[in-house]
Amino acid sequence: MEKRVNRTAAIGLLATLALFVSEGDSWAGELAEKRLMVQSAAGETKVPETLYGIFFEDINFAADGGLYAEMVKNRSFEFYDPFMGWEIAGNVKVRDDGPFENNPHYLRLAPADNRWRQTAIQNGGFCGMGLKKEACYHFSIWARTVDGVAPQTLRVELGESDADTWGQMVAVGKVEVSTSQWKRYALELKPSRNCNAGFIRIFLEGDRSVDVEHVSLFPEDVWKGRENGMRRDLVEALADLHPGVFRFPGGCVVEGVDLNTRYQWKKTLGPVENRPVMENRWQFTFQQRFYPDYYQSHGIGFYEFFLLAEDLGAEPLPVVNAGLICQFMADSESQHAPISDLGGYIQDALDLIEFANGDQTTRWGRMRAELGHPEPFGLKYLGIGNEQWGREYVERLALFVKAIRKAHPEIQLIGSSGPSPEGKEFESLWPEMARLKMDLVDEHCYRDEAWFAKSASRYDSYDRNAPHVFAGEYACHCRENGRNRFDAALLEAAFMTGIDRNSDVVAMATYAPLLAHCQAWQWRPDLIWFDNSTVIKSASYYVQRIFSEYKGTERLKLTCNGLELYGGPAQDSLYASAVCDRRRGACIIKVVNLSDNDQDIHLDLRSIAKGQFPRGEVVMFRADDSEADNTLENPNRVTPEVRPMTREECNNSSFTSPARSLSVYLFYDRALKCQ
Ligand code: AHR
Repeated sequence: MEKRVNRTAAIGLLATLALFVSEGDSWAGELAEKRLMVQSAAGETKVPETLYGIFFEDINFAADGGLYAEMVKNRSFEFYDPFMGWEIAGNVKVRDDGPFENNPHYLRLAPADNRWRQTAIQNGGFCGMGLKKEACYHFSIWARTVDGVAPQTLRVELGESDADTWGQMVAVGKVEVSTSQWKRYALELKPSRNCNAGFIRIFLEGDRSVDVEHVSLFPEDVWKGRENGMRRDLVEALADLHPGVFRFPGGCVVEGVDLNTRYQWKKTLGPVENRPVMENRWQFTFQQRFYPDYYQSHGIGFYEFFLLAEDLGAEPLPVVNAGLICQFMADSESQHAPISDLGGYIQDALDLIEFANGDQTTRWGRMRAELGHPEPFGLKYLGIGNEQWGREYVERLALFVKAIRKAHPEIQLIGSSGPSPEGKEFESLWPEMARLKMDLVDEHCYRDEAWFAKSASRYDSYDRNAPHVFAGEYACHCRENGRNRFDAALLEAAFMTGIDRNSDVVAMATYAPLLAHCQAWQWRPDLIWFDNSTVIKSASYYVQRIFSEYKGTERLKLTCNGLELYGGPAQDSLYASAVCDRRRGACIIKVVNLSDNDQDIHLDLRSIAKGQFPRGEVVMFRADDSEADNTLENPNRVTPEVRPMTREECNNSSFTSPARSLSVYLFYDRALKCQ
């Protein structure tokens, strides 16, 4: 690590600090007011557009049951028990010679053996279906008649098992199955009332059998009204983060628990009926949070991921499997792809670049055009491997790098520094990443309060000539059970002032995980929680949003009472960063006060527009209880507030930074705006 730590600078700072303190001017003592002085930074100061982004992985039911708006669980009957997610009545049998090669199972509904009984199937979605009164729902089903007698009728009902309501059904419709050939039938349903735990029921009405396959229900109100769409409320929450980069599809999901279950992007394209359904590795990763019904339908596949990145205005950053399975779970090296088999894995990566960027004369560029996007997606970044380490990773990575550099020198390649932000793997991987001339190195920082409190200075000493950093996964895990809480979010904010200050070396940062179903999560804390009707933005979400929204366009240097501001107890737990935003025409200062005391601060902006500002705003984020967070019951418990600065504040820029708060001070001046 010697190369990466600027020890001289660190010792220099300590010496200055010692002198400062020995002279009697302590941060907390006589100098009650902190003078935060903004100075123009020397050298390259541009803030990367990618600095704050999002990382999507299908964990915590983030895809099926989450972002993917499909409401039917196990719609193709491909879970290890084909009836999982379904309740059946009457005469229902599973068959496996269906019309979709990759998902061959379907159901045969035959008449019940008694005229009082009925044959029906019922699906309760993902912990119930959230149905909205008068909203339109698109039902579809593949079906065929069996006995040569057509048409046969299927009755489709939406309902809720609600003890307070006498009639359970909230919408009814019929499908006439008209032929013995497999065909898709569709129907619109409008519930007569709201349901949070709704279900769908399909009855066989006639006296002849009908085969059914790929049963689907989507709300009409999805993101951009697209078919096979995503939940609008969730995508809007992502869009509000203004992500500059979008990493997908994992995470450990990229690795799989064996090579068969690794993520294979080519299998996620084309008609959803034929995208292979497979178990999700988070189904069984934590015994205490076992979800045997957690599968991946790949309804959101790589085409949808690229489209979403484009919608969000974020750079797409796919991660490909490096020929290694999850090294936490691998019992032996022999479970990895042998080097001699790596050609196919590398070709997958090259084909992915062609899929994203190739013109229509190329095989994969044509595929993208046929799917509906003739223009290239403009891929610039590619991650190779998730949390990999050791010799087995480095030797495989080298082969990927060689082949991709040769064919696509324009693509920036991202390597792994292992699962931890320090330690043996980390220390040995960084020099290897430098040797392989990776453009960026992915660091994963799931750490406790103490780590976050001290790590705002982490990147100050990184070697500016080494690969850049992608803080690809990070979150403050409170020792108490990993719950989301306001004070963890505040610690993340303190850490992020260090990212702001070092955006010449940290090019991108993404919190993880992004999404979690309140009733079906495996990992916490998470950025956004949801159930079938509600989206809950955590305190961490608001921190991400604030840093992203106010990331600025140029880095500015900031000192506090003459010293560089690193944060930490020696500096009264005050953390801060400064940027200029040429788009807004504003100088922006973020201040995190982790201490239990209010602190008076004076913002000295004389180096910027002579320190005279006609207008300003203050964004204040704090909580009355630092252990609190937003919940289903109280989704707006902690939210930031924005207020205009008073004339006096604009003139003398003195403020009180409240105990345990994040505040952002925006000073507007037309002269700062880019012309
Ligand atoms: O974010 C959850 C998991 O944490 C990711 O899948 C993995 O990369 C890390 O261990």
